[in-house]
Amino acid sequence: MASNKRKTVLVAGGAGYIGTHTTVELIEAGYDVVIADNLSNADLSAVQGVERIVGRSVPFVQVDCCDLDALRQEVFEKYPFDSVIHFAAYKAVGESVAEPLKYFRNNLDSLLSVLTLMKEFEVHNLVFSSSATVYGQPDELPATEQTPRQRANSPYGLTKQMSEDMIQDTVAAIPFMRAIALRYFNPIGAHPSAWIGELPKGVPNNLVPFITQTAAGVRKELAIFGDDYATPDGSCLRDYIDVVDLARAHVVAVDRMVELPAEDDRQRYEIFNIGTGRPVSVLELVDLFERVNGVPVPHRIAARRPGDVEKIWAATDKANEVLGWRAERELGDTLRAAWAWEKRVRGLE
Ligand code: WQD
Repeated sequence: MASNKRKTVLVAGGAGYIGTHTTVELIEAGYDVVIADNLSNADLSAVQGVERIVGRSVPFVQVDCCDLDALRQEVFEKYPFDSVIHFAAYKAVGESVAEPLKYFRNNLDSLLSVLTLMKEFEVHNLVFSSSATVYGQPDELPATEQTPRQRANSPYGLTKQMSEDMIQDTVAAIPFMRAIALRYFNPIGAHPSAWIGELPKGVPNNLVPFITQTAAGVRKELAIFGDDYATPDGSCLRDYIDVVDLARAHVVAVDRMVELPAEDDRQRYEIFNIGTGRPVSVLELVDLFERVNGVPVPHRIAARRPGDVEKIWAATDKANEVLGWRAERELGDTLRAAWAWEKRVRGLE
């Protein structure tokens, strides 16, 4: 990597769950990172956790990415970087149904600011945080990148679809830009150091934080949302991807764009599924968590959750072959790390 500009990555939304893990992996791979985050759904202690793991300070700017002028003055004018990873978005599916405008405003405006300033400052490379939610319930599984997207079943999902399309059209019109959208399946777990992890505010919506909080005694009981699906044990199937493996996918995506020569006009906009390729049921996951951690997770079968798809998992061939990336961590280790993090946060043991 020739210049400092090429070596530096702006991580927008870098204080969040996936942003912190990605920052660690970037720094360990030799990149410099600048974090921009408005801390609307994150805590400065997460950045301190990153610094503790990497053993040095990481430039942090508290700024709302929707604020174009502030982002220009405080980030784009001050730091040299040639790549941006854009995580800055709201992500609660249920909340997005209740408050769609909040989601459209925040998720689309922040992306617009980033794209506008990338154009203005001739920043070349963008990695975008997309989601398997864009597939809805696919007719055929596993879902490949060619699987048709279906109408999003939440405003949150719609912002991911619209963001992908905005990026595709922007890149098509700006010859110096390249972008990679990573469609995450179900990110779970925590850094093995237990210094960073997922810290949901209020009652968790997602399965693994609910499991760890139940095991810790913060929640009384886990509700399994449905055991009458057309799956082997009746509970839903998902593709649970370790957050550290997911973080590494961002590093290889940046590597790919940094390393492509400027004149190489191969696919300037690319999409990759990031998952394990292995379907796991809710009941299997709970059982494995209890076994590897030796701790009970009181649970009961409850009604289906509206909006849930029955089953989805990733075809990972494209990420394997083109990015040279694959999920490496064992699910049991991931669930151990999730529990170690929860225990540290709660001051248990
Ligand atoms: C997983 C499985 C539930 C909680 C969502 C978004 C997606 C992405 C990740 C993020 C399902 C079951 C859950 C509980 C349960 N978004 N479950 N009891 O719904 O696959 O994906 O989060 O930013 O876009 O849609 O993930 O973790 O909520 O659920 O039985 O208390 O666990 O029904 O089968 P989901 P999840």
